[in-house]
Amino acid sequence: MDLFGSRQSLDSLDFDFQDGKLLETTAMDNTPSRTDAKRQKRQCRYPTCTQLLIIALLALVAILLPLSISRADRHDKISTGIEFGTCGTNRTTAIANGCIFDNLSYAWARPACHHASLLKTLQSRHEIKYYYSSTLSPENRIPIQEIMDGKHVSAWAEQEQHPIHCAFMLSKLHEAFMNGGPTDNLVREEDHTAHCTQILLDNWLHEVEPCAGPQGCISKVNMKFTHCGYS
Ligand SMILES: *[C@@H]1O[C@H](CO)[C@@H](O)[C@H](O)[C@H]1NC(C)=O
Ligand SMILES: *[C@@H]1O[C@H](CO)[C@@H](O)[C@H](O)[C@H]1NC(C)=O
Repeated sequence: MDLFGSRQSLDSLDFDFQDGKLLETTAMDNTPSRTDAKRQKRQCRYPTCTQLLIIALLALVAILLPLSISRADRHDKISTGIEFGTCGTNRTTAIANGCIFDNLSYAWARPACHHASLLKTLQSRHEIKYYYSSTLSPENRIPIQEIMDGKHVSAWAEQEQHPIHCAFMLSKLHEAFMNGGPTDNLVREEDHTAHCTQILLDNWLHEVEPCAGPQGCISKVNMKFTHCGYS
């Protein structure tokens, strides 16, 4: 098909070239009537070209205008950020609303904002332990099933929980972006991303000192109840 197409355009180029040569010789033999006729013929071509250009531009506008309107429409519609529902304010409302607890985000999310396979991938790379208090001793340990079930509004964990959590949050953001899918309000929060990049870089930049506080090198997690949508 392509070969045929280029052959055709080559042919028409050849033709134009011959036409041009013809024009030159006609101009040289000084016959006014024939030259005028040719010029007229050439001048006639310009309005046609302009008209074609205008038609093409109008067609382009006709195609692009509805597209941009529908994008604007979509943007208007998506500005609520809760198109896929909310998890309410506590465990009871979260379960009633069909939300899933994800122990790495330490948050409840609507299914459309839950990143199951990403969660599984990161979970398999490190097992984080949770504790009832800031004393990370074996007798203080919370059974992982209770954590998985979202039964603890807050808990303590080893320090690495924080960068792993952050890597997961940023990966969720990217996955949602690639799929054109919704995000929960926590993932969407720009301040949270800024905080997470700082946590991830801290091994090198030492801008925050997680071990400086009275609790030492540990993380505290607080349960979040998110909503899901575009924004
Ligand atoms: C959860 O939130 C709902 C709605 O705000 C409230 O009615 C309910 O009492 C709360 N339940 C618990 C266990 O706090
Ligand atoms: C979440 O639960 C899974 C499954 O028990 C566990 O392997 C993982 O370490 C936990 N992850 C976090 C961040 O709590």
